[in-house]
Amino acid sequence: MKKPIIAGNWKMYKTPAETAAFFEAFRPMVAEVTHCEIVICTPFTNLDAAVRAADGSNVAIGAQNLYWGREGARTGEVSGYMLQAVGCRYVVVGHSERRQFFGETDATVLKRTLAALEYGLTPIVCLGEHLDERESGRTEAVLSDQFEGGLAALTPEQFAEVVIAYEPVWAIGTGRSATPDMANETHRFIRGKIAAKFGAAQAAATRILYGGSVNPANASTLMAEAEIDGGLVGGASLEPESFTRLVNY
Ligand code: 13P
Repeated sequence: MKKPIIAGNWKMYKTPAETAAFFEAFRPMVAEVTHCEIVICTPFTNLDAAVRAADGSNVAIGAQNLYWGREGARTGEVSGYMLQAVGCRYVVVGHSERRQFFGETDATVLKRTLAALEYGLTPIVCLGEHLDERESGRTEAVLSDQFEGGLAALTPEQFAEVVIAYEPVWAIGTGRSATPDMANETHRFIRGKIAAKFGAAQAAATRILYGGSVNPANASTLMAEAEIDGGLVGGASLEPESFTRLVNY
């Protein structure tokens, strides 16, 4: 059975001490939760603190990026091998902020996805269109290119381990979420791409998360949509109370 995932993406927020304080409050509040998987993706510098703080709980820890390759002369990079060693289980790949500010392309998204799989990490691979693309009716073409340029190159066995996050760029950090209808329709399109490439059974089994201004007020209507299998949450994941309300959508 496909279990929803509620994942927090902390982006470039929190110190190790703040991470420990978050978990002290958050852990007991979600201790009984079994209806969804809970994931928190922290900055690299907080992973060790987060893994230790979440040890023995129902909260899994993820990173926000990784380099392909195991070790080497790659100043400033962190590999899947290292993330696995610190106790990470998930990693966000191809977030639009990485594409926008750090030159991430579909080709590097594919390399990072393969690296995550190689080291037993579940990649949460992000897709999404910009506002001008949405407004000019190019959303499906953009998502199609991102899918074909990246995920379509995986083997069926590899693809089975992937989680997808649809994050319309215009909805990220803007307070302007996609409507449930719009998100559902876009997820259906992505699922159609998966079905065409990997078959209907895989398409039905793949979890597609929605991200972009998800908050405690709009989560339940978004999560009620048939094609939405969870959320990737930025700002509203930073406070234990607000993220608990999201987990309990
Ligand atoms: P916000 O929830 O802050 O809009 O961020 C969404 C996001 O980018 C999650 O990866």
